[in-house]
Amino acid sequence: MSVEMSECVPKVCLPAELIAAGPAILPSLLLCDFANLGEEIARVEQAGAAALHLDVMDGHFVPNLSYGLPLVDACKKASRLPLDVHLMIANPEKYIEAYVEAGADMVTIHLEAAADPGPLLQRIRAAGAAAALAINPPTPVSALDPFLSGCDMVLVMSVMPGFGGQAFDPAALEKLRYLRDKTAGQLPLEVDGGIGPDTAERVAEAGAQLLVAGSAIFKQADYASSIQQLKQLATTN
Ligand code: DX5
Ligand code: ZN
Repeated sequence: MSVEMSECVPKVCLPAELIAAGPAILPSLLLCDFANLGEEIARVEQAGAAALHLDVMDGHFVPNLSYGLPLVDACKKASRLPLDVHLMIANPEKYIEAYVEAGADMVTIHLEAAADPGPLLQRIRAAGAAAALAINPPTPVSALDPFLSGCDMVLVMSVMPGFGGQAFDPAALEKLRYLRDKTAGQLPLEVDGGIGPDTAERVAEAGAQLLVAGSAIFKQADYASSIQQLKQLATTN
């Protein structure tokens, strides 16, 4: 069964930059230099980033704490790029509208954190952002099936969320292929965790169009060449 993208109201689908032809590289700010946030954002903007990926962690759903609403708000003021907010938090239902109000253009909630994801995806869209569901490596991909028609994007985690710099789990490739085939390539697929020069080509071949990268960008001296290299590797014909 294919997802009916025509049901998608334009304002709540993905930002145009992200569905243009070719792969999109989204720097994960988790690993940036926060003492120079504005400068880091300007650097990745100039380097060809398609959007900023913001990892919100609560110390409950994941064993790490990162940042929350004030940082999303600061990024909105500092950047013209779409903000892709990845909520790794328990009880996401408490915060959806607040993150959209703070500037999120896309809000991703975890399937594992939501008792009933369908209405939450609807609330994200109603608030004016694109709605996405994420799954962790141990979660079977078929658990997403009932919710695909309510998603503007699906995020396949290729590491257990919580920390940057972890090794890519190749089980993500099978999940991406499953989702690409299930949705006839119509639902944008994002992958997050361990994405770099060794994995970009494989995830793109498996169907990922949005590649999140933390260490493969922020641990490198030249952001532009890192992003361009990932983009090139992910460009499949
Ligand atoms: C992991 C986060 C990722 C992470 C990516 O919990 O969701 O976005 O920061 O970092 P790398 O690319 O270093 O795996
Ligand atoms: Zn993330």
